[in-house]
Amino acid sequence: MRASLEVDLAGLRLRNPTILASGILGSSLSLLKRVEEAGAGAAATKTITADPREGYPNPVFVDLGFGYLNAMGLPNPGVEEFSRLIAEARRLLKIPVIASVGGGGGEEFLLVAERVLEAGCDAIELNLSCPHVSGYGLEVGSDPELASRIAGSVKSISSKPVFAKISIHQSELGVVEKVIGSGVDGITAINTIRAMAIDVDSMKPILSNIYGGLSGRCIRPIALAVVYRIHGEFPDIPIIGVGGVEDWKSALEFILAGASAVGIGSEIARKDLKIFSETVQGLEEFLAERGFRSITELRGYAHKI
Ligand SMILES: Cc1cc2nc3c(=O)[nH]c(=O)nc-3n(C[C@H](O)[C@H](O)[C@H](O)COP(=O)(O)O)c2cc1C
Repeated sequence: MRASLEVDLAGLRLRNPTILASGILGSSLSLLKRVEEAGAGAAATKTITADPREGYPNPVFVDLGFGYLNAMGLPNPGVEEFSRLIAEARRLLKIPVIASVGGGGGEEFLLVAERVLEAGCDAIELNLSCPHVSGYGLEVGSDPELASRIAGSVKSISSKPVFAKISIHQSELGVVEKVIGSGVDGITAINTIRAMAIDVDSMKPILSNIYGGLSGRCIRPIALAVVYRIHGEFPDIPIIGVGGVEDWKSALEFILAGASAVGIGSEIARKDLKIFSETVQGLEEFLAERGFRSITELRGYAHKI
């Protein structure tokens, strides 16, 4: 019998545990369709704000060789246009669509959440953690009281699962406990890590925004430790592990640490969309070789030592 890769994320059923991470390809219907065809179990949209945002001027992305640095500035067409895209995606795709909701405060988060729920998204991910946009993300989410108030108010209007996306900057257990206490259904960990790079020729910061977010395989050990720690403390909370997943082995690491599913982002740049099917196939083969019947048996397995 073939091992099952199906997972249940707080009621959200995924054919396999791979999810397109927010901000990567999740802002056009044709790209979302390609992600589904490539084998992903679900897809998260780019973070959506109430009004359109242009984002920062170039340079906004740096390939460091060992990972990536970006400060896009949360460019998106705003919730009106994005809601139409979500409604279309819902009509055309079979996999769940997770709407990434952003905001400069409680009111904006609530307004965007209301609209994407009306549009038919299957779940919400609250971006409480983008580390490089003034007035958004981490600047809102690093206040534990405010973060849990926002999470609680969005949860109160949502019949769909709500995930709070945190970063390493908020990974202290007290903060996580507060956010979980607000009633969210799960945690996504982690967002990019605040970082920068300097060009030695011009002797100036490379990114137009100076600071950006570090992602890719160099952050995986950090993300993994966050997931392991949260699962150890809150074993019943579903976790989407994100940060440097580049193949089935790295996806499995997150599951063994306690994640129910994994987000895949930056490494798509290096490996293309085949990263999804390769990850799924590798996990399937691993389960079969080791005699496991379901991927869910492996969740948090590394804690059993
Ligand atoms: C270019 C780029 C844009 C991103 N945009 C968003 C975003 O809009 N919202 C969000 O929550 N995370 C965003 N992220 C963070 C990713 O979703 C992910 O949490 C992070 O990059 C770590 O995963 P990775 O190493 O697989 O990329 C972005 C990351 C990158 C590289």
